[in-house]
Amino acid sequence: MPATIVVGTQWGDEGKGKLTDTLAKEMTMVVRYQGGHNAGHTLVVNGEQFKLQLVPSGVLYAHITPVIGNGVVVDPRVLIAEIAQLTAKGIDCSRLKLSGNAHLILPYHQQLDALHERYLGKNSLGTTRRGIGPAYADRAMRVGLRVQDLLDPKIFREKLEVVLHTVNPILAKVYNRLPVDAEAICQEYLEVCGPQLAPYIADTVGLVHDALDAGEHILLEGAQATFLDLDHGTYPYVTSSNPVAGGACTGSGIGPLHISEVVGIAKAYVTRVGAGPFPTELFDEIGDYLVDTGHEYGTNTGRRRRTGWFDAVMMRQAVRLNSLSEIAITKLDVLDGLDTVKVCVAYEYEGERMTSMPYHQSVLHKVKPVYAELPGWKTALTEATEEHQLPPAALDYLAFLEEQVGVPIRRVGVGPGREQFVERSRT
Ligand code: GDP
Ligand code: IMO
Ligand code: MG
Repeated sequence: MPATIVVGTQWGDEGKGKLTDTLAKEMTMVVRYQGGHNAGHTLVVNGEQFKLQLVPSGVLYAHITPVIGNGVVVDPRVLIAEIAQLTAKGIDCSRLKLSGNAHLILPYHQQLDALHERYLGKNSLGTTRRGIGPAYADRAMRVGLRVQDLLDPKIFREKLEVVLHTVNPILAKVYNRLPVDAEAICQEYLEVCGPQLAPYIADTVGLVHDALDAGEHILLEGAQATFLDLDHGTYPYVTSSNPVAGGACTGSGIGPLHISEVVGIAKAYVTRVGAGPFPTELFDEIGDYLVDTGHEYGTNTGRRRRTGWFDAVMMRQAVRLNSLSEIAITKLDVLDGLDTVKVCVAYEYEGERMTSMPYHQSVLHKVKPVYAELPGWKTALTEATEEHQLPPAALDYLAFLEEQVGVPIRRVGVGPGREQFVERSRT
């Protein structure tokens, strides 16, 4: 009856899709527990690339039941398009299950997301403009529409009327925009999306527990990451859900005693898309090297990612927030060309050394990273399949990270392909 969580430990795009796909080999079910189509999870199998936004990353395996949990916010139009794209590539999506309790993203959520970002101007968060924040806000206000409402036109219309009672005046009086065309939404959502998604809509909490009761091993796939978490991230530069391991329980409907492992995933350096503090950010040619070599452009929005050195201070905080039992490091191969590699081991603020993250955001904005500098390996790692094939300097780098963070690194990514994970021995 165990459940394993895959959680991002930085600011997203660590390779959660790839790790989920790798671990899913041994599982029967993969549950996405939060976020929406702000996520972009990439899988590369036999050279073919799959970019998933809502469909869980286990979908490529015939033995996996992919589940979109209650904690996810779903734009049904995007989900339908994603299913169609996967089906066109020969992937059978018929096993997909969609929680009836998941909340819907409606067109005005996207409009409000974009309008709010525009209003913020130079202080904008750099959201993906997918309507994630406004959809979760409606959920918290208890005026949200849920996936199950697609199956009940009367309820759908009633709820839409209630929410538009406040949304329309906001659009008109605050943003000088036209009111929402409720009939157009009803037509698209009830007449087009509802019937197409009906076969997938299910009591996913029941299905998850049936699997656990049958002794099956399930995987809970996080989107976004620890420092984009609404409670624990660099607020307000965060997303509107709880990617941390605790969110996996609420977002899938299981209690914490079912969790047997929490696998944290981190890049061998750090990236961030959108605004917010980033202590180890690089503005020099090494930052450009990481962007170019790591192809650091958003999977979803195409935006250039900000890059920086690995931050062990953040990672120690991620260990605490998620109870990490092990770590997977991805993109070690991206550092192959560097003479030396740096790791931030502490922060300095007003002459004081800090080894844990300051709780006060104003301090985090001003800290200076304290680096340890290690020799590079100047060897291509992409062909490595076993630990002993990694050069000593790369192994030393991993050992240094482990020592800094205090949790074993069990897997190391050396390329985007499904098979490009080197497993490390359990000592
Ligand atoms: P996710 O959102 O956490 O699933 O990550 P993304 O898919 O947005 O971004 C990770 C990117 O890195 C994708 O393009 C992956 O194909 C790629 N990737 C994952 N692991 C590795 C690795 O070990 N090495 C290299 N070079 N690329 C990787
Ligand atoms: P995956 O799952 C990286 C960032 C956005 C923005 C902030 C809020 O692929 O790792 P939102 O649209 O969620 O309201 O935006 O969060 N963001 C991500 N950054 N990877 C993601 O997902 C992200 N999802 C949201 O860039 O800074
Ligand atoms: Mg991504």
